[in-house]
Amino acid sequence: MVWCRVDTRSEPADPAELEGDLAMPVSVDPTSVDPSRDQSAPANRSAGVPASAQAPTGEKGEALRPHAEDAFAAELAALAAQDDRPRPTRWRMSPWAVAMYLLGGTLPDGTVITPKYVGPRRIVEVAVTTLATDRALLLLGVPGTAKTWVSEHLAAAVSGDSTLLVQGTAGTPEEAIRYGWNYAQLLANGPSRDALVPSPVMRAMAEGMTARVEELTRIPADVQDSLITILSEKTLPIPELGSEVQAVRGFNLIATANDRDRGVNDLSSALRRRFNTVVLPLPESADAEVDIVSRRVDQIGRSLDLPAVPDGIDEIRRVVTVFRELRDGITADGRTKLKSPSGTLSTAEAISVVTNGLALSAHFGDGVLRASDVAAGILGAVVRDPAADRVIWQEYLEAVVRERDGWKDFYRACREVSA
Ligand SMILES: Nc1ncnc2c1ncn2[C@@H]1O[C@H](COP(=O)(O)OP(=O)(O)OP(=O)(O)O)[C@@H](O)[C@H]1O
Ligand SMILES: [Mg+2]
Repeated sequence: MVWCRVDTRSEPADPAELEGDLAMPVSVDPTSVDPSRDQSAPANRSAGVPASAQAPTGEKGEALRPHAEDAFAAELAALAAQDDRPRPTRWRMSPWAVAMYLLGGTLPDGTVITPKYVGPRRIVEVAVTTLATDRALLLLGVPGTAKTWVSEHLAAAVSGDSTLLVQGTAGTPEEAIRYGWNYAQLLANGPSRDALVPSPVMRAMAEGMTARVEELTRIPADVQDSLITILSEKTLPIPELGSEVQAVRGFNLIATANDRDRGVNDLSSALRRRFNTVVLPLPESADAEVDIVSRRVDQIGRSLDLPAVPDGIDEIRRVVTVFRELRDGITADGRTKLKSPSGTLSTAEAISVVTNGLALSAHFGDGVLRASDVAAGILGAVVRDPAADRVIWQEYLEAVVRERDGWKDFYRACREVSA
């Protein structure tokens, strides 16, 4: 990393003034940006909070939702070890290996890499390639299309750390993207490098890592614009110290934004030009969606210690069929037009309906996933607006579900919870 002094005055700097806190080393070890950073515990990286002041994070193996780099550590290590293709500077593996990590495959030694993303290969290849260029990556799509999921796994594979994350909200301040101050130190000693609290983006720049910004379009426009200098000049000026942090090779940024949020805070065209946009589609076929749901439900079930429930695939297929038909506004056979309810009925929601169903069946049922275990969850996902959505649901139940061969149990279960 290069810390260098940016002299904003016309007179030459007084060398005496460059000593002490104001003097920024021209070349510093990247990790010195945050002296408190605990290298061994990436999960502990709350921006600028000294390790001693951070809340205990519990045993790593006990984490309810481990970070991708921890959950898939064995796959990442096997890929990095067997990957002999060229790697961009500071990448843990080659772009080819990153794509394999996301899409799945088998390594020469027989190690199986599980697919993380189920979708068009080209989308993943474009996303990975973008990260090796000087343009940032914007993952765009409707809710539940795995934008956050893909962004996390990309950062884990490229940099070995998915936690350099800024969560975008309407209240995200500029400090969350640039840097803040430790006010006790600032008041006691004035602005100094020690008093500066780097943002995850600043750390990623200094260390040549992948930064993530979630829900970019929820961030107010003026705060979003603080990314422009970072992405075009690859530098983050610190006027208070008359210095800057220059991004080193390996730095890039992945942002996610929701299609439906468009208009909340649009991306300025200046900022959009700094991104390569990759649109993540809804799953193309029912089979692909069933595959995604069953994989994720299996993983989530294991992390929640849910007892295994065998033969859930038929019920998963039924949930996916209902979601797809209502989302598309037409039955799978193309014969009956339907009204679509107001909810998104995304793959992510199908995953949580089935997970809840599995928990019900494991704890209160007979250990087999049945229609009665998923019916309440489906109703909750479909009927968001109690008036209009309920009518749409009733019509669908009576016109489609009731008449469908082999769906009598499902019809009865849905009628019971809808009453
Ligand atoms: N094509 C897909 N391949 C693999 N998993 C998927 C796919 N689509 C959805 N999922 C699963 O859906 C879940 C939700 O995805 P995620 O939270 O990343 O969605 P999102 O696009 O960020 O949604 P939002 O816009 O609401 O933030 C994840 O568990 C992910 O595994
Ligand atoms: Mg998301």
